[in-house]
Amino acid sequence: MALHRLTSITMGVPNVEETQAYYAEFGLRPEGDGWFSTRDAGRQLHIQHAPTRRLVEITVGADTTDDLDRVASNLGRLGLEVQRTPSSVSAVELATGTRATVEVATRVTQDATPPTAYNGPGRGDRHEARAPGIMRTERVMPRKLGHAVLGTTDLAVTQSFFTHGLGFKISDVIKDHGAFLRCSVDHHNLLVLAAPVTFLHHTSWQVDDIDDVGRGAFAMLEGHPERHIWGLGRHHAGSNFFWYLKDPAGNFSEYYSDMDCIVDDQLWTPEVLEGARGLFSWGPPPPPSFLAPEDLGALMTGSHSPS
Ligand SMILES: [Fe+2]
Repeated sequence: MALHRLTSITMGVPNVEETQAYYAEFGLRPEGDGWFSTRDAGRQLHIQHAPTRRLVEITVGADTTDDLDRVASNLGRLGLEVQRTPSSVSAVELATGTRATVEVATRVTQDATPPTAYNGPGRGDRHEARAPGIMRTERVMPRKLGHAVLGTTDLAVTQSFFTHGLGFKISDVIKDHGAFLRCSVDHHNLLVLAAPVTFLHHTSWQVDDIDDVGRGAFAMLEGHPERHIWGLGRHHAGSNFFWYLKDPAGNFSEYYSDMDCIVDDQLWTPEVLEGARGLFSWGPPPPPSFLAPEDLGALMTGSHSPS
């Protein structure tokens, strides 16, 4: 029994209404109470007010109360103040001020989506028909929350909280700079990144395939070219296709598909990635604002104080 999924995140922003409208357009279903749902995994994004944009809370699903006991004792060993209820355990990660809550939750089983028919050399999987990706007319609605990326001023402390405290596993490491962590069979559910200030870099949302990565981003850019950040490309860590856009608070939001899965921990060897590999395999060159979002200076000098 174990952690099994990234259940939800709570994002704090100064401009709540504008940001909520953006995520509704992004394809998440507004529940009317500040929460947004995905197609396969229910309520996964909560947007609330904060003086500056930040990751307020991350919620992780576990199978049993035994898992909660283990997390509570590991967090206690790290010297942290732990809040415990019969069905959850919670603590604040001190370097970033982000609260992490592990709760007993049912596993989400996604129905197997039929493979998209792509023709290839010597392989005609699609005859007398245009590609599904150009025939689809429905708007893209993400299947589930995949991961969040958290900038921290103390990488060692933040990483230790999630690995030693909560029990996340390390999938790959960016040398001296960050770690891709998982609490499910997905390659990463959280990337912790060394940064000059605590901030939420991006959240990432699963769609069916590369066509829906493109269709989703293309629809968001219509009339809003300023939302474009980086894409289309494929990452090395996790292998996923990506396209990044920017919400009105300055957080990036990613459509992704085809991420690596790690079902048997023994069969995966984490890599230490250096240089461009830490960022991507192919795609346009990442813009400087992807690595250092334009508001970082303002976040550093602003009134930001995690609470
Ligand atoms: Fe990502």
